[in-house]
Amino acid sequence: MTRLTSTRDELVNQLAQTRRSGHRIALVPTMGALHDGHASLMRLAREQVGPDGRVVVSIFVNPMQFGASEDLDRYPRTLEADLAVCAQSGVDVAFAPSVEEMYPHGVPAADQAPQGVTVEPAPGLADILEGASRPGHFRGVLTVVAKLFGLVKPDVAVFGQKDYQQLALITRMADDLCLGIDVIGAETMREPDGLALSSRNRYLSPAQHDTALALSRALRAAQSQAAYGVEAARHAAQEVLEATEGIELDYLAVRAKDLSELRDRPEKGAEGRILVAAKVGTTRLIDNLPLEF
Ligand code: PAF
Repeated sequence: MTRLTSTRDELVNQLAQTRRSGHRIALVPTMGALHDGHASLMRLAREQVGPDGRVVVSIFVNPMQFGASEDLDRYPRTLEADLAVCAQSGVDVAFAPSVEEMYPHGVPAADQAPQGVTVEPAPGLADILEGASRPGHFRGVLTVVAKLFGLVKPDVAVFGQKDYQQLALITRMADDLCLGIDVIGAETMREPDGLALSSRNRYLSPAQHDTALALSRALRAAQSQAAYGVEAARHAAQEVLEATEGIELDYLAVRAKDLSELRDRPEKGAEGRILVAAKVGTTRLIDNLPLEF
């Protein structure tokens, strides 16, 4: 049975007993609107802590990580359905706090000089790709994740690889701040047609859904050309996107696995990543896949 908790005190008290009895705790942070991709993170979390451990899922649409012109107000809030997904996935505790509960001193503005204590992400890693398009976004993400880590004190935290840069930054935070939390990245789940599962997919009309398939097609085209180098991979993806009407490309980038820049001809067998962000209608989607050169 999943227990719904909405206050920090209640959450901490519930987990104290688990910690005293030496069982492991896994955290899956989410913003709700849960889908099969989230359910796979929950299953992975359970595998990590075993049957006696505790799996905690947080459900919180974090205002601090949304820019002023972004979709905070229309972001789907579906608590009842989310609790059903948690229950089916064997989650022990669903933590769904209010904004006031998470930010009792007010929500700091992530894209300006922040008031209050916030987490400053590693600049080289946070200012590119998503960070370049969404100033302050990762300060908001890391600040809320640090709060969740502080409340839950998990042994393990599970995030999706779909948000590849977010995963890299959270892993880096856990490491740099010596948090002693094992951050695990779970593979992206996809529709049978290739579209990466995302809470924002529900905004897409059937026609837009078809258009959005160009993203995963483009990434796969890049995979097939990676043996010829970075530019060949990028070009193959770009061709697919340019041939598709209705895609407004934000970025398409080929990077090393750790998101650093690559020279055109990496060593044979080296691993990289291709990442894309684009709007289909008013819906902004991201996706990425591994590359082998
Ligand atoms: O990936 C998300 O859903 C969010 O960025 C996260 C990690 C839950 C922080 O709000």
